[in-house]
Amino acid sequence: MCGIIGYTGHRPAVPVVIEGLRRLEYRGYDSAGVGFVQGRELHILRAAGKLRQLENKLASCGTFLATSAIGHTRWATHGAPTEANAHPHKAFRGGVCLVHNGIFENYAEHKQILQGKGCVFSSETDTEVLVNLVADERVPGVSLLEAFALALRKAQGAYAVALMDQDEPDVLYAARHSAPLLLGIGRGENYVASDIPAFLPYTRDVVFLEDGEIVRITPASWQIFSLADLMPVSKSAQRIDWDMQSAQKDGFRHFMLKEIFEQPRAIAECMAGRTDASRTAVRIPEMDALPVPSRLRIIACGTSFHAGLWILPLLEEWAGIPTNVEIASEFRYRKPLLAPGETTLVISQSGETADTLAALRIARERHSPVIGLCNVVGSSIARETDAVIFTQAGPEISVASTKALCSQMLVLLLMALYWGQRQNSLPKGLAPEALRALDGLPAQLETALPVLRTEARALAWQHASARSMFFLGRGQSYPLALEGALKVKELSYIHAEGYAAGEMKHGPIALIEPDFPSFFLAPHDALFAKSRSNLEEVQARRGPVVVLTNSPKPGLHLDARQAWIIPDAWGPLKGFFFLPALQLFSYEAATYLGKDVDQPRNLAKSVTVE
Ligand code: G6P
Repeated sequence: MCGIIGYTGHRPAVPVVIEGLRRLEYRGYDSAGVGFVQGRELHILRAAGKLRQLENKLASCGTFLATSAIGHTRWATHGAPTEANAHPHKAFRGGVCLVHNGIFENYAEHKQILQGKGCVFSSETDTEVLVNLVADERVPGVSLLEAFALALRKAQGAYAVALMDQDEPDVLYAARHSAPLLLGIGRGENYVASDIPAFLPYTRDVVFLEDGEIVRITPASWQIFSLADLMPVSKSAQRIDWDMQSAQKDGFRHFMLKEIFEQPRAIAECMAGRTDASRTAVRIPEMDALPVPSRLRIIACGTSFHAGLWILPLLEEWAGIPTNVEIASEFRYRKPLLAPGETTLVISQSGETADTLAALRIARERHSPVIGLCNVVGSSIARETDAVIFTQAGPEISVASTKALCSQMLVLLLMALYWGQRQNSLPKGLAPEALRALDGLPAQLETALPVLRTEARALAWQHASARSMFFLGRGQSYPLALEGALKVKELSYIHAEGYAAGEMKHGPIALIEPDFPSFFLAPHDALFAKSRSNLEEVQARRGPVVVLTNSPKPGLHLDARQAWIIPDAWGPLKGFFFLPALQLFSYEAATYLGKDVDQPRNLAKSVTVE
């Protein structure tokens, strides 16, 4: 949430920054702005709404002489998403301007002090207070770097910030604390940004910043200092192997659709190197040094939380590990009791979710070994865990998470097998059978996806006018039902509720009426007969029902008013077909309703505030 990019080099900086902001759009935003120095004067242009609005404003002013600039996409926290609240913010005195991602918690107290000194504010933001704090610290004899550090030391909360000054137009300063920020190192040009895609067309050499670091970049140099004492910190750049193509739409209308169709490849890449040569056992070398957990606590948010719920039964059944799964924002504000030997597993696509990161830190304070399951190399969560396993799904740009969940489910399945192997608790022959089935999964899914899409579209068009929907399932289909409902909510803005099918009779069934459709997940698994009874209870209340099930077989038949036949697969791999069916349904419903699929309103890809 919020995107930052700063550029200093030899190119016209404003187009580079606008282009970079466009590649950060996936993070979610509701206003945007850019700051640059031209003719020795600081210019700031901002607009509410999408980048297009900002570009319309820029069209009428020549920006081509500016070779350094900072830009920002803002996701409103303090103050409405108006032009006045958009970043950059300029100090009341002096020519310093700043962009900020995060929350400056004690801003009100500093605002009062600054107002007492005659400072006048023109926005409701915490950011404007921060830039004025910098200006206030900048007295004769104090450099801008020192003033910036002094101001940041007073700021409590989370931030990634970038700053420029009209008196030093080629120099940018930036710092981070609990919010993502990295450097892109070019030739005769350097970047700071919230995420790699912002500068990926220009460089793949990246320096990951840590909390408490402050940087100074010029076209030809970059220096990192510790915020605490301004002592230099030595670091080197890493070359990352993402290519621009995998961060582009590849002919698909939306990133979300592209990412749904990338799931077969995500599965194949996720499997690579994680089995032995004979395909009979799972290998996860990252976990070899850690003991098999006596208990496991999985912590995550959003879609990643659903991945945790999905694996719970298999961790218990295959690996014999008592497991519970928690929402990070709940966990972090309890006084959780972690049993000795209890391991924590945090799941996060971005590796930057503030609540998950805070939960990780609490678990570490309580001496629980922490394993991270992440998609983004170099992310905060990846760096702070005792062991990290990467999902290797490639960049996920669409705000709604799709292929990341598929790859999380796959790695979690491998982890359950891996721990089961180490515990000797797997039923005989189960691992080779699972691995054989997994080998065939990418090709099967590749064939299934276009068919599922056609079917999803027909169903979406039929049901997109509903005001509410249920998604129901039992066992491993329950978290998938939660995910189906989440996707419909976030993309179509239709009220949708995911529920455990067996719980319907304890209240929610009262809602069923002729215009309230239920999507019932009933794969051919051990709970099929139970699901069939729950289905009959709902159908008896005359609610429209669509049953997602496998092709009928003797003894595995149900009486559905409307059935969506989903390709069958071995055991828990069934979920890898039900999941894209639900994703495609929500995608088709949202496009039918004309919604902004890749950037749903009010949402952000990476939620870096609590
Ligand atoms: C945001 C995204 C969701 C995502 C959640 C957790 O809300 O919009 O798609 O599931 O954050 O993100 P994480 O990166 O920790 O998996």
